[in-house]
Amino acid sequence: NEGSLWGGRFASGPSPELARLSKSTQFDWRLAQLDIRGSQAHASALHAAGLLSDDELAGMRAALDELSERVRSGAFVAADSDEDVHGALERGLIEIAGADLGGRLRAGRSRNDQIATLVRVWMLEETEEVERGIRAVIEALRMQADAHPDAAMPGRTHLQHAQPVLLAHHLLAHAWPLVRDLERLADWRVRASESPYGAGALAGSTLGLDPALVARELGLAAPSPNSIDATSARDVVAELTFVLAMTAIDISRLAEEVILWATRDLGFARLHDGFSTGSSIMPQKKNPDIAELARGKAGRLIGDHTGLLATLKALPLAYNRDLQEDKEPVFDAVDQLQVLLPAFAGMIATLEFDEARMRSGAAAGYALATDVAEWLVKRRVPFREAHEIAGALVRLCEQRGIELDEASDDDYRSVSEHLTPDVREVLTVDGAIAARAGLGGTARSAVDAQLASLDERLSRL
Ligand code: ARG
Repeated sequence: NEGSLWGGRFASGPSPELARLSKSTQFDWRLAQLDIRGSQAHASALHAAGLLSDDELAGMRAALDELSERVRSGAFVAADSDEDVHGALERGLIEIAGADLGGRLRAGRSRNDQIATLVRVWMLEETEEVERGIRAVIEALRMQADAHPDAAMPGRTHLQHAQPVLLAHHLLAHAWPLVRDLERLADWRVRASESPYGAGALAGSTLGLDPALVARELGLAAPSPNSIDATSARDVVAELTFVLAMTAIDISRLAEEVILWATRDLGFARLHDGFSTGSSIMPQKKNPDIAELARGKAGRLIGDHTGLLATLKALPLAYNRDLQEDKEPVFDAVDQLQVLLPAFAGMIATLEFDEARMRSGAAAGYALATDVAEWLVKRRVPFREAHEIAGALVRLCEQRGIELDEASDDDYRSVSEHLTPDVREVLTVDGAIAARAGLGGTARSAVDAQLASLDERLSRL
């Protein structure tokens, strides 16, 4: 059974049913170049241990380079008979280097330590593009915040008008979770940079191979301290799928708001033609498909994450074939964000906000009632009473169908003796916003300070 890594003790080859089930080349082929890099590093370890001569090492390196080239050009591809990428590449190596040299490479390693290492390197490298995508969304939010320094909008809780806020403040509220996602990824990198190579199948190797040498050549920080853990742990994979799912969820919350902002009823923002879609039947339509796909993909990434957790639950040590199921979810999560984030960043960067419309709704729904209450507190009225007074004013205005500042002096007096006409000085959107100048507040000065600390946090990453 040419191309198989384990024929020796079997009287017959695998049944076609088993071969079909067992096959993973359709998804692990994307690890081929990394597998070859791992093989180059492993060849160095074999050479350092005296198991490959100088000439053999040179021959092995050249053959692996050639194999890499053939994979790149498509001259070498997985065959039907290949179980996985590792077996296929050994077949390819032997085609180039012959069975005597090519057959020496597998000494002291197992697909178990090999795959555990490759997945880590793959994640570390591919996640860089995701990080760039997250940064692009943060940049887009920051750019929009800069472009609209004084735009006011209704701040909401329970989706009801609550208090006016600066658009910039609200946009940055979406940036911070993404900054934390980047920080999570940076933190995850430390744990992901351990190298399982050298752990063998589970117990290490008798051949005196130096795992630190392999780790170094692969750009990983250090070898795993426990060979059993090295081959069987996938928590770093699950940690990444969590952070990616969380990122998608954070994006989906912004997506949902963009969808609402772009409705005709709200009309807070218009989507750029290049970042919205039309309808095949309704000529007038302009749809927020990017935001909807973001919302939809968040569900998919949650599935990737929870599916992997379910695979890991109660799995005994050490390697079990179940672990092969780790790859498709993490590949999928990374793939999805790699296409989603650039489109999403473009959509945010090109949103056109209707400042007048946002501002006109900012004080609606008596959103300045808290300002009335706090104005009373500053005049020594206990907050409990102030809350009652402001509430009574809202009731009166609601009955009359007027705004808080439209009530007459007599109206104010009828509500409370504390409510003098100069309460009107806090009944403006800009006044309400400017008054919230404490740390993290919505006043322009506080938002400026916030921008500085956002930049500082990003610069530390
Ligand atoms: N393809 C497997 C995986 O992705 C690695 C092969 C290990 N197979 C084995 N029978 N030990 O996890």
